Amino acid sequence: MKIFTLVAIVQVFLLASEARSDAIVENKRVTCFYLTPMTELNGTLDIEDIDASICTHLLVDETAINQAIEEHYDGYSSGVGMNQEFEKLKAVNPNLKLIVQVRYSLLSWIGNFFYSNGTLDGTSEGASNATQGTIRLLKKMGFDGVDFNIDYYSAEKLDEMADMFCDMKNEFDKNGYIITIDFAYKEGSNITQARHMSYNFSKLTRCCDHLNVLYLGHPNNVTQRMSSLRMMKSTVDKYIERGLPPNKIVITIPAFGNIYALEDPQDTGMGAKIDVERSPQIGDSFIRGFIFHRDLVREMNNSSLAWTIRRDEETKEPYAFTKTGLWASYDDRTSIEVKANYVLEKGLGGILIFPINLEDKEGIGGEGTFPLTRAVFNSLRGLQTEEKTS
Ligand SMILES: *[C@@H]1O[C@H](CO)[C@@H](O)[C@H](O)[C@H]1NC(C)=O
Ligand SMILES: *[C@@H]1O[C@H](CO)[C@@H](O)[C@H](O)[C@H]1NC(C)=O
Ligand SMILES: *[C@@H]1O[C@H](CO)[C@@H](O)[C@H](O)[C@H]1NC(C)=O
Ligand SMILES: *[C@@H]1O[C@H](CO)[C@@H](O)[C@H](O)[C@H]1NC(C)=O
Ligand SMILES: *[C@@H]1O[C@H](CO)[C@@H](O)[C@H](O)[C@H]1NC(C)=O
Ligand SMILES: *[C@@H]1O[C@H](CO)[C@@H](O)[C@H](O)[C@H]1NC(C)=O
Ligand SMILES: *[C@@H]1O[C@H](CO)[C@@H](O)[C@H](O)[C@H]1NC(C)=O
Ligand SMILES: *[C@@H]1O[C@H](CO)[C@@H](O)[C@H](O)[C@H]1NC(C)=O
Repeated sequence: MKIFTLVAIVQVFLLASEARSDAIVENKRVTCFYLTPMTELNGTLDIEDIDASICTHLLVDETAINQAIEEHYDGYSSGVGMNQEFEKLKAVNPNLKLIVQVRYSLLSWIGNFFYSNGTLDGTSEGASNATQGTIRLLKKMGFDGVDFNIDYYSAEKLDEMADMFCDMKNEFDKNGYIITIDFAYKEGSNITQARHMSYNFSKLTRCCDHLNVLYLGHPNNVTQRMSSLRMMKSTVDKYIERGLPPNKIVITIPAFGNIYALEDPQDTGMGAKIDVERSPQIGDSFIRGFIFHRDLVREMNNSSLAWTIRRDEETKEPYAFTKTGLWASYDDRTSIEVKANYVLEKGLGGILIFPINLEDKEGIGGEGTFPLTRAVFNSLRGLQTEEKTS
């Protein structure tokens, strides 16, 4: 039984924090989301193979922690603990912030924040225990902060959490720890739309370093992009209207694309009909219609398929198709440059790559190792430097 599905991964979500990382990417965040060896993606990317030099934050999913809050899975490769492996990344990048994510599924941990009747009281003994427990955990792990996934909380709960975050922050500040939030905005999902669009975020974000926002489109049997810049922009605008401070918003770029079989190989544009049944499952992807970036790079290198690449005029986002009716949408350096530009123009907090496990870690696509993260890092840094000198 797979612990995760790609959909779950997508639903989940992530992220990290501020940081005096001026020397690296000035104040913009480049958050690398990492799924630990406890997930079904076990073995896809070892901790030691993460390129910490191009991340300002490493957001680690919570599966490394067990339900008892203070303990966590630490039996990594041949006696070397996972935490030690994470800490080693700081030798490469001393400014790297390590953040551990808490998801709704970790009920007993989250449960520590609540009374048994389900209400939350930031000043209660329970909340104080949770704060102290979290601090002990961060110390033990050698981490710098904690991230809360808020996908499933009601507006009332979020208000209660807002108070708790500020109480927590008082204690966290003594250690330099940070709190971040993440959530996915899912097109067609009543949960995120109804809850988030009627919620005033200004209180919730007051004591948080930043929020990671993932926009996800709704699959509807036509060629499309899972997370287009156009949709991300309109989502970000909505959240800003709801009180989210722009400089705390970190947008997400998935490290996976969509791949489909076209119903008519001549009809190759956006919104063309796809044949769901014939859509291929390529590489390590376990869901039809999705392809990991590293597998896509390999597929597109296959010259016998003769891919044609087209781009959206405005966003430069690529899609590609073959004469045989294969169709893919994804991101690359060119589209990431446009996204990075948007982040700077809009004064947003940065970009998160989700998850880096699916990146082309060997650089087989010819754009270096971790080409998506590298493009984010280089474009944010390059554009900021340009801004300063011009
Ligand atoms: C992940 O891989 C490690 C090392 O290969 C192994 O010890 C561990 O049991 C695996 N974890 C899961 C959840 O499969
Ligand atoms: C929940 O429990 C707390 C602590 O016992 C109490 O203060 C609060 O009023 C209760 N809330 C509800 C809705 O019953
Ligand atoms: C808080 O922690 C103390 C000591 O571990 C424990 O006795 C107490 O029951 C905890 N309180 C709550 C509300 O979890
Ligand atoms: C979502 O909301 C719409 C309109 O409010 C409703 O018709 C639909 O049944 C809801 N869907 C779910 C899954 O709750
Ligand atoms: C997509 O097509 C499948 C069958 O090919 C169908 O079961 C499903 O309802 C369709 N989904 C939408 C959103 O139209
Ligand atoms: C959200 O709350 C803040 C502070 O209470 C207030 O200034 C702001 O106008 C509110 N925004 C919306 C969209 O209601
Ligand atoms: C390239 O694509 C062709 C046509 O689908 C396939 O037969 C061949 O095995 C592929 N080559 C590689 C190296 O994947
Ligand atoms: C890419 O294609 C070239 C030429 O077909 C081949 O030599 C090379 O091994 C391929 N690289 C990968 C990573 O598949």
